[in-house]
Amino acid sequence: MSVNLTRYRELTYPPPFPDGWYRVAASGEIKPGEVKHVQCAGEQIALFRSKTDGGIAAVDAFCPHQGANLAHGRVKGDRLECPFHGWQLDGNGRIRDHPCAKDQPAVHRHWNAIDYYGMAMIYWSARRDVQAPYRLPPQPNIDNRQLVYRGQYDAGEVATHIIEFAENIVDFQHFSKLHGTMRIPWTNIKLPWIRIRHEPSWALDDELEHISYFGDETTFEIGGRICERTRSRALVTLLGPGSIVKFDLEVPRIGEITIFQTHTPVEALKQRVTFRWFAARRVPRIFVSSVVGSWVSQWRQDVEIWKRKIYRQRPLWTRDAGPRGKMHQWYRQFYPDGLVTNLSENNDNGD
Ligand code: FES
Ligand SMILES: [Fe+2]
Repeated sequence: MSVNLTRYRELTYPPPFPDGWYRVAASGEIKPGEVKHVQCAGEQIALFRSKTDGGIAAVDAFCPHQGANLAHGRVKGDRLECPFHGWQLDGNGRIRDHPCAKDQPAVHRHWNAIDYYGMAMIYWSARRDVQAPYRLPPQPNIDNRQLVYRGQYDAGEVATHIIEFAENIVDFQHFSKLHGTMRIPWTNIKLPWIRIRHEPSWALDDELEHISYFGDETTFEIGGRICERTRSRALVTLLGPGSIVKFDLEVPRIGEITIFQTHTPVEALKQRVTFRWFAARRVPRIFVSSVVGSWVSQWRQDVEIWKRKIYRQRPLWTRDAGPRGKMHQWYRQFYPDGLVTNLSENNDNGD
């Protein structure tokens, strides 16, 4: 009996859905009074926006009565009306207009849902907890309009596990080989005379245990000479298991750019990936686009590896490989107790 390749790969990974905040749509896709069917972490979800206060809500797409698809229903005020027999549900999973509803607790599966800088996010947990244990942090530079919206890019689906992003940033050995050559932004075309030198680092937040940081200082080497003037710094903040990642890029003499990258596992080994970016007003749009495009081009180098690889629980390791063991210890918090099967138990890999 043979196992197909996707299944073979899937079996090597930890469970497909760690707990976290996941982007399920762009906020602008759901106007007040609209409903949309979305998928996340193996769930089918009706995402709707209240006409009353404009807030979003996420409930299981299939009606608790006889299973009609609520995403084909209508929003009435702050409730979602089922298209089959007309029951109305609120965003907290309560049936609101039915004679037997009076004494009922919330009966229908639902999730914490928020708008976060143009992204509709839900908190998903394998424990089926509705309340998220942490909030996504405010972004003062965007709130005070120092940074303004400059674009978004839907990168489609990538056949990999969400943990690969976190694995990638603590794999210090791959930067020179895989990301050492400059690409034309948004393309896979190499500019072979420009080498990129990376100086990666990784750290935990001092207070917030769900946050970790990856730092990368890069310098261009042009025609074999290191060009110090091109030195730039990127700080990458993982807000949870890699489901939403923030890049703060500081380009000398030009200004700051912030990119949100999201990974939403819709199924095992199927990540929906998006980018949404903001920049200081004075940074020319074409420059912003080329910086984001350079990042996307580099990221695509990783994707070419990820979509074909398996997960090695215990890779053949060398001492200078990076803080993988520490990252694993950190990552375990996103799996409820008892669910972790593949994440390495010990911390003896390279630390
Ligand atoms: S199936 Fe939804 S009200 Fe009956
Ligand atoms: Fe990478």
